Amino acid sequence: MTIRDIFTTMDYGPAPESSAEALAWLAKHGGRFGHWIDGAFTAPGQTFATKNPATGKVLAEVTQGTEADIAAAVAAARRAQPKWARLPGHARARILYALGRLVQKHSRLLAVMETLDNGKPIRESRDIDIPLAARHFGYHAGLAQLLDSELPGHVAQGVCGAVIPWNFPLLMLAWKVAPALAAGNAVVLKPAEWTPLTALLFAEISREAGLPKGVLNIVTGDGSTGAALVAGPVDKVAFTGSTDVGRAIRRATAGTGKALTLELGGKSPYIVFEDADLDSAVEGLVDAIWFNGGQVCCAGSRLLVQEGVAGDFHARLRRRMDGLRLGDPMDKCIDVGAVVDPRQLERIAAMVDANTEGETYRAACAVPAGCFYPPTLITGLSAASHLMQEEIFGPVLVSMTFRTPEEAVALANNTRYGLAATVWTETLNLALDVAPKLRAGVVWVNGTNMFDAAAGFGGVRESGFGREGGWEGLLAYLHPAGRTKALKPMAAMPEPANPQVPALDRTAKLYVGGKQARPDGGYSRAVWGPNGALLGHAGLGNRKDIRNAVEAAHAAKAWGKATAWNRAQVLYYLAENLSARATEFATRLQGMTGKPGMAEVEASVARLFTYAAWADKFDGAAKAVPIRGIALAMNEAQGVIGIVCPDEAPLLGLVSLVAPAIAMGNAVVVVPSEPFPLAATDLYQVLDTSDVPDGVVNIVTGNHAELAKPLASHMDVDAVWCFSSTDLSAMVEREAAGNLKRTWVNQGRATDWALTEGRAVLRQATGVKTVWVPYGE
Ligand code: NAI
Repeated sequence: MTIRDIFTTMDYGPAPESSAEALAWLAKHGGRFGHWIDGAFTAPGQTFATKNPATGKVLAEVTQGTEADIAAAVAAARRAQPKWARLPGHARARILYALGRLVQKHSRLLAVMETLDNGKPIRESRDIDIPLAARHFGYHAGLAQLLDSELPGHVAQGVCGAVIPWNFPLLMLAWKVAPALAAGNAVVLKPAEWTPLTALLFAEISREAGLPKGVLNIVTGDGSTGAALVAGPVDKVAFTGSTDVGRAIRRATAGTGKALTLELGGKSPYIVFEDADLDSAVEGLVDAIWFNGGQVCCAGSRLLVQEGVAGDFHARLRRRMDGLRLGDPMDKCIDVGAVVDPRQLERIAAMVDANTEGETYRAACAVPAGCFYPPTLITGLSAASHLMQEEIFGPVLVSMTFRTPEEAVALANNTRYGLAATVWTETLNLALDVAPKLRAGVVWVNGTNMFDAAAGFGGVRESGFGREGGWEGLLAYLHPAGRTKALKPMAAMPEPANPQVPALDRTAKLYVGGKQARPDGGYSRAVWGPNGALLGHAGLGNRKDIRNAVEAAHAAKAWGKATAWNRAQVLYYLAENLSARATEFATRLQGMTGKPGMAEVEASVARLFTYAAWADKFDGAAKAVPIRGIALAMNEAQGVIGIVCPDEAPLLGLVSLVAPAIAMGNAVVVVPSEPFPLAATDLYQVLDTSDVPDGVVNIVTGNHAELAKPLASHMDVDAVWCFSSTDLSAMVEREAAGNLKRTWVNQGRATDWALTEGRAVLRQATGVKTVWVPYGE
């Protein structure tokens, strides 16, 4: 093409970026890599090729990591970690800052390497991936600096195993490595098999920052290497990738005590109201679904347009699609690059080809031969259609229309995922009304795909749990200092040889939807005191009772929308009514356990006060993100929480878990202490007289092992907490993998209920939703 041609057509001329430096770096290593362990490259083992998806050419050979490689890397990390954690935060801050500066210094090389290996446009790797990675290290340098003063009493998890995907290779490395190192952990990271090169380059660069050897280790390989890392002797696993693998990792780590965060797939809604600035919303879609060719976990892949403007909007969108430039990712004026790998291309094509619904529009742009897929829009799908529900992970947008804001919210939430959502409207009230109603960890208003290290990112439901970025992200790499004792199982008092049975039958029922309910199975269990007295009977609930209780909890949704002050008042009232009956409860506790109960009752009253106090004080934040605008971090209720209560403090344990959960707007299904259930059943009347709306607290007594299972596996329960003295942690975590609900379990360790209160508990009861609201015209 000549300059004259360009002036005639007014088309873009080619603006190729050079790959010479990146190829020279690969050549310097002979095009073959081992792992990065203990501050140096190992000799290559059995290797596989990593290719440039735009050309199909082999870039380098990398090593398939074995179990022995993982063991060596974890051992190196283990050796290095204590010293790294003992450094003052300032010392770690300096190294993290240096890492950020080095990413900036080598940004061109890293960007080119990323584009060569992944196929994303150089414009994106240069302007987004690499600068954000640098920013992540810079931000976390600050967290390391402030950690000692701001989070006293917290210590590093130890060795973290990180497994990352191929869509943002260096950025995902930064998201895992920066907070882990800031908190004093050592890391073993396994990059995705299709895109390992920037991780290896970064590892080599990290030496220049003075990072002690062994603190960061990179082991390349496929899913089996990832599985070996997850199964290895690590203290925390951080994963980003597909929901199926996330589920497998949840099962693999169940009961091991390994901390876990999962950032998984999504099918994020992109809602356009009729009063939106339609051209901006079209431009936003270019970023939402054609950024990185739609291979983005939070891609706005489900377009919901208000009916009145749908025709116009789709027409504008098609016009814009036709103007997209698809092609050589190394060309600086390319909008959409190559798909990461021919297998991913096949997956995308197979999903689209299998669809028989709606109308498919392919952008009129030229599609180069090879690993490229054209920008595609499919309109007129139904809510249940496969493509409306499943992640395509390619440049394919699916669309439906809606009439009212309520319908928009219902359609948006009609998914098993909950990663991100985008709302376009010129009406601020509408945007801020809709944002909290969307089941998503991140909501963007009049913009999309905004990220920053200061703002938490992560999902709800089957998009996983945990946040990356901000203080909330850092906390996932820390745990409270001190080691707790092993918890002893507590059995119910045995039936005595000469039972003292009162004439009056006192069988406590279950408490479901604000009413006392007979257990479905019709059975109950005698509760004996230590001195042989029959104290009463407690119902033996079963899975049907759990089902009913979960239903009742869902029917109590209005509680989540009540004002925080309103919830506080109910908690104060509960405290008041419990206090009025303190002697009765103290006698009950003593009757069951043989130990004086008044201190426990008084502590329970105080705890209710604590969470009444917290109800309107567990504030969110306005994050200082580098845009003209704000990112609101809102602490949102989880929804329905299943709680299996401790046995060692039958009343205080229950109150310590139920009060924070309901203070934050959750509804709960509570399984009280198995051996000592009667303090909980006595609470029914207190709940009835304290204005707790029906269904907010549901109580099902019975066998912990039998009841925890349906609770943990229930698809409509959002989180499950288990503090039983029967060790059910492994089962609960495994069963929770079904809908990837969050879990909080004791791992068989004792809990000091006198001290278990405050922010750490409130964080379990909530999740941070980040709402981005840019300013300006
Ligand atoms: P994947 O989830 O299989 O791969 C992600 C990472 O996990 C890679 O490093 C892989 O080697 C590793 N891995 C695979 N199996 C593992 C196991 N059993 N234990 C531990 N680590 C394991 O994703 P894949 O196959 O590359 O892509 C499949 C689909 O997943 C995509 O089409 C897309 O829908 C989704 N995906 C979502 C991502 C996200 O960011 N949410 C990222 C990548 C893929």
